[in-house]
Amino acid sequence: MDLKTKYLGLDLVNPLIVSACTLGHTVDNIRRLEDNGAAAVVLPSIFQEEIEGHIDDIDDILAESGAEAASYFPPSIADRSGPQNYLELIRKARAAVDIPVIASLNGVSLTGWTDYARQIEQAGAQAIELNVYYLPTDLSLTGTEVEHRYLEILEAVKKTVKIPVAMKLSPYFSSLGDVVRKLDAAGADGFVLFNRFYQPDIDLEELTLQRDLNLSHRGEIRLPLLWLGALSGHVKGSLAASSGVQTAKEVVKYLYVGADAVMTASALIRHGVGYMKTLLDGLRVELEQREIDSVAAIRGKMSRRAVGDPTAFDRANYIKILHGAPRG
Ligand SMILES: Cc1cc2nc3c(=O)[nH]c(=O)nc-3n(C[C@H](O)[C@H](O)[C@H](O)COP(=O)(O)O)c2cc1C
Repeated sequence: MDLKTKYLGLDLVNPLIVSACTLGHTVDNIRRLEDNGAAAVVLPSIFQEEIEGHIDDIDDILAESGAEAASYFPPSIADRSGPQNYLELIRKARAAVDIPVIASLNGVSLTGWTDYARQIEQAGAQAIELNVYYLPTDLSLTGTEVEHRYLEILEAVKKTVKIPVAMKLSPYFSSLGDVVRKLDAAGADGFVLFNRFYQPDIDLEELTLQRDLNLSHRGEIRLPLLWLGALSGHVKGSLAASSGVQTAKEVVKYLYVGADAVMTASALIRHGVGYMKTLLDGLRVELEQREIDSVAAIRGKMSRRAVGDPTAFDRANYIKILHGAPRG
């Protein structure tokens, strides 16, 4: 069985990548993830605020995280954050494992922090995942201005490094396809769909905003599935799926719509790092049962471009579904 794939120009032994998350804070975890079959690891993000020295912001975020999230953060995360410690994490991870180590750079505005990408490269990261976690709550901002931010940050980072740069995006653009194609033309080496935006809830007893971090569920693959399927075959950059992988079935579905690689965080946090092996074994079984002998044989076979009925992805299908829904 040939599970090999290519992501951001990197040769991977299989498509399973550890998504940026707290598991990547320790080299011990990273080693165990490799032992359990992870093909690459994305380190947790280093934030613009940390690079620029506003470390208190990170402490606040950690202190106010909900119970579920807080229990995943190692107690000494504040000691581990910070630009120097992040570079040290990259160096140690590179020394400890053979799989590619991808750093995650997370910021929102074009200030000097993007130069830090060079230090990430020098520390040995084989690629950068760029996460522009930007919520345009300034109601006067236009869609074009928001999109421009993504482009200028990508261009600044691309100018700084030679290693590949992937964009981790949210689905919240008025025309995601156009944004992806512009970023693709500007040199993005890949796209990670999707970033998880943490949306507040309200604690009705305390009348406070509740900022907690919910782990994902398998139903969440549908939006990235749709967009990966729509983009597959239309961009030069690689495509990675991120959201909702709980079993190997979601991995197979993502491959069918055109993902080059599939990332997972919540499932590993929920079940432990050993679950990577369960996913990998499950992927082999899923392919064997269908008498498929390689990942390449199914990649993109159910993309919008490849399926005989592309309207399955579009409005016509939506109308069919609504007409077919139970009427009480
Ligand atoms: C505890 C936790 C920490 C995370 N930290 C980061 C991060 O530092 N940077 C980032 O880009 N995404 C981060 N994420 C988002 C994941 O990388 C991923 O995109 C998201 O959880 C969806 O994938 P999943 O359904 O497999 O969890 C985090 C997710 C979790 C659950």
